[in-house]
Amino acid sequence: MKLFAISLMFVACFCILIGLIQNVVNTDHGGIYPTDRNIIHLNGDDVNLWWFVQLSDIHVSKFQDPKRPEDLAKFCQHHLPKIAPELFIVTGDLTDAKYKNERGSTQFIEEWKRYEEVITLCQKYNNNVKWLDVRGNHDAFNVPDLDHKKNLFRTYSGQGETNPSSYKYTHKLKFGEYSFIAMDATPNPGPRRPFNFIGILREKQINLLNKMSLESSSSNMTFWFGHYPTSLIITEDGSNIRQLMRNASAYFCGHLHLSGLHTRHKTGTYELELGDWKHNRMYRIVAVDSNVMAFSDQAFHEEPVIIFTNPQHARFPAPQKVTSTHIRLLIFPPSHALTVDLYIDKVKIGEAQNVKGPLYVLPWKPEQFKSGLHHITAVVKENGFTIKEKSQLFSLDGTTEPFPILARIVLMVDLLFIGKLLFYFLAVVYVLVLCLLRKCADIRSLKLQGDALPGRFIKNFINRWIRRVWLVSKATKIFLILTCFTTYIMIGPWFMAEVIDGHTGLMFVWGLYVKGALLPGSLTYVYGIFQMVSYNIPLLFHLGYILDYPQSFSESNQLRLSHRIRHLYIPMIVLLIFQCYVTLIEFPQAYGTKAMILGPVRSGSIFIGMYCYYAAFTHHYKSTVHTS
Ligand SMILES: *[C@@H]1O[C@H](CO)[C@@H](O)[C@H](O)[C@H]1NC(C)=O
Ligand SMILES: *[C@@H]1O[C@H](CO)[C@@H](O)[C@H](O)[C@H]1NC(C)=O
Repeated sequence: MKLFAISLMFVACFCILIGLIQNVVNTDHGGIYPTDRNIIHLNGDDVNLWWFVQLSDIHVSKFQDPKRPEDLAKFCQHHLPKIAPELFIVTGDLTDAKYKNERGSTQFIEEWKRYEEVITLCQKYNNNVKWLDVRGNHDAFNVPDLDHKKNLFRTYSGQGETNPSSYKYTHKLKFGEYSFIAMDATPNPGPRRPFNFIGILREKQINLLNKMSLESSSSNMTFWFGHYPTSLIITEDGSNIRQLMRNASAYFCGHLHLSGLHTRHKTGTYELELGDWKHNRMYRIVAVDSNVMAFSDQAFHEEPVIIFTNPQHARFPAPQKVTSTHIRLLIFPPSHALTVDLYIDKVKIGEAQNVKGPLYVLPWKPEQFKSGLHHITAVVKENGFTIKEKSQLFSLDGTTEPFPILARIVLMVDLLFIGKLLFYFLAVVYVLVLCLLRKCADIRSLKLQGDALPGRFIKNFINRWIRRVWLVSKATKIFLILTCFTTYIMIGPWFMAEVIDGHTGLMFVWGLYVKGALLPGSLTYVYGIFQMVSYNIPLLFHLGYILDYPQSFSESNQLRLSHRIRHLYIPMIVLLIFQCYVTLIEFPQAYGTKAMILGPVRSGSIFIGMYCYYAAFTHHYKSTVHTS
């Protein structure tokens, strides 16, 4: 009965968690027109229109795929001049900064020089286009501090010399001012991989960003950009980044290599992750048409690119109310040989006419599509052949198309908090269950009885495993080792190693100490979860299985031996070998062999495992002898 109550409690906790996530990822804004104050009116004129390009995760590498910078140079030389963007933003991971084995990491001057070459070439072919770049985690591997000579971003990037970290740039056009705020959340000091996968904003930087945001309030629009999605940044003072950027129209980021996740936060700001250049050669054109933003993500050889700025995509409505007399769309690269047929809900409504450059317009009667969602389609033909079709949903009554659930979870849920919670939950429950079972003198009182559970099979299965864990808790030596070890994982240092050249760091699950600074725990919790799930938990169950192993068999000796091998020895060897592999590969390759020798958790695991098995087998044989 007690157990039944406990399981009910677990189910309840789980439901609450799901409820919280559901609430967080909900993008319903309760009506998208906050005020009718600034109504935007769009007609058929070529006014107040401009666009820029974003690129992310280039990963110029000394060892891998030399085509990354080559293709970028090609893009700059042959594609970009036709697009003719006002400016260019690059959201981090400019270089790869990894050794050939992909685990060790440091800054390589060759990679940075190559990156600089590409910028120079790009600017040469594109009228010195403004190049706004910002660091990603790879650009901060093994960088002791911003002013250090190892910070090659300072010397070899578009902005580094004047803006080594976060900065603001205001783009002034005849018809308005547009602010760009670059957010650099890379850890400082920057450890070698993997412990800067998650960004961190110090209080000082948050104040700076806040100041820049306030300064930009007189701009017509503000855009933020940075490497990490907001769900993967921790703030030192616990402030909410989405609140910090609430006045921005959009936040452009990269990092996840997930070919474009988009969502809209409760504050109204869009968060738009872009797929990488590294593997997918993705780029994004963002058009701003009388302060209505629209964009398109595609691979660099995909042409032409079609962007509707009116009507707006049903996922990306403008925050203000928009009225219009014309359908407006941009087609890159501009060409005179195109015909553009427009269809709404599969009915042809006419042929759009080129106004100037990439802009095409067609007069329409929006009253006809006042309610609900509609499809708009552009069919672009060159010399009579269809070369591209683009179709999207729009609405004029505020109906929106929901964002995919994956994008909402990844970009909106506080993944770091959930990781932390899950790790402590696993570790604490592990220790607690062992302690409670040890107190229990007679296991029969804990067994599930009666018809509380539907299947007899499930009931017996659970009872069998409770008994096995109980046996472990009763074997004093094993009990002490497992509980102490798991507690140690939660509080003690995992390893000591040179996490930055010349600087020894100490890694705890709750943070990384290096150069006198504490980088709060983040990815470390993922390693913690991995340790529990891949080692501590299977070890516990298998030890229980050994202690509970039948002491006499009716079958022949031979059958008995093969059964023992399959059920006792093979799982043991697999578990230990896997742990050896993890111990030897991950941290030592990232941080040097010192991480292995001075690594009580990973290397300790192997010895602890071997000792526990030894204890379990002797315990088992003793009781065998005893009962026979
Ligand atoms: C930008 O803001 C200025 C000043 O508020 C205003 O005069 C101008 O019309 C705005 N530009 C656009 C494109 O809305
Ligand atoms: C955001 O905009 C509002 C209204 O213009 C302004 O009062 C506020 O100070 C701005 N906040 C930030 C952080 O920019």
